Amino acid sequence: MILIDGKKTSAEVKADIKQEVEAFKAKGGKTPHLAAILVGNDGASETYVASKVRSCNEVGFDSTLERMGKETTEEELLAKIDEFNKNKDIDGFIVQLPLPSHINEQKVTTAILPEKDVDGFHPVNVGRMALGQPAYISATPYGIIQMLEKYDIDTTGKHCVVIGRSNIVGSPMSILMAKNSKYANCTVTLTHSRTKNLQEYTKSADIVIVALGKPGFLTGEMIKEGATVVDVGITRVPDESKKSGFRIQGDADFESCAEKASYITPVPGGVGLMTVASLMKNTLAAAKKEIYA
Ligand code: GUN
Repeated sequence: MILIDGKKTSAEVKADIKQEVEAFKAKGGKTPHLAAILVGNDGASETYVASKVRSCNEVGFDSTLERMGKETTEEELLAKIDEFNKNKDIDGFIVQLPLPSHINEQKVTTAILPEKDVDGFHPVNVGRMALGQPAYISATPYGIIQMLEKYDIDTTGKHCVVIGRSNIVGSPMSILMAKNSKYANCTVTLTHSRTKNLQEYTKSADIVIVALGKPGFLTGEMIKEGATVVDVGITRVPDESKKSGFRIQGDADFESCAEKASYITPVPGGVGLMTVASLMKNTLAAAKKEIYA
């Protein structure tokens, strides 16, 4: 079994970005600038946004963290988005999800200019991605493809089963894995909560990408010998032995899956770190105007 090391892989991606930033600036380019809007004080979102800001510092980007209270109205958030859309120094920005329930997520993601939507959540970017046109690709699926590439995992003609159909991960992942490109070209099955006899699919999968937010859901007996397991889950599970009172658990039961898998991503230290690295990649592309001229 080979552990797909997200820490090492993301560090490599970030080192490359840092060099590219230096080269871009040496030629008169601007310092890339990522902004993040965080509404409310969800603990997990605080952690993710802090890691995004930290990564900006590591790769030589400017960053802005805009904190808005949990009582923020949709109108106030849309006004902030409008301000960031117009701010010429901000190359790309994100609104951390989930949002409080009184705010319409779809309205918010659609309000971000597609050319500044480095999360790749805007319908224009999702549509362009689906059609194979230049687009910001949502950071988690993009990070997973880069992991497959870094470990040179043979995906062509293989059966890839995606578990979970979220807009952020499962749906775009299923589209990308079916594309005619080197680390894709899979026959894809997109499964979800209404799928009957899930095991029938996972047992025949060469690659299983599990993204449903249920800790330990995918067990060794559900996969075939030699499968590649990509675990997207990041759930805080209460754990009194930890100072924080919780531990981070993935959607795969690591022990039993690792016994059968040929490659597996750990949690923590896997996909999550690649998500952040991919967001940095998208932001650099935004500063260089590589996707939208
Ligand atoms: N919440 C969980 N994942 C993400 C992500 O990739 N981007 C944003 N904006 N929010 C998230």
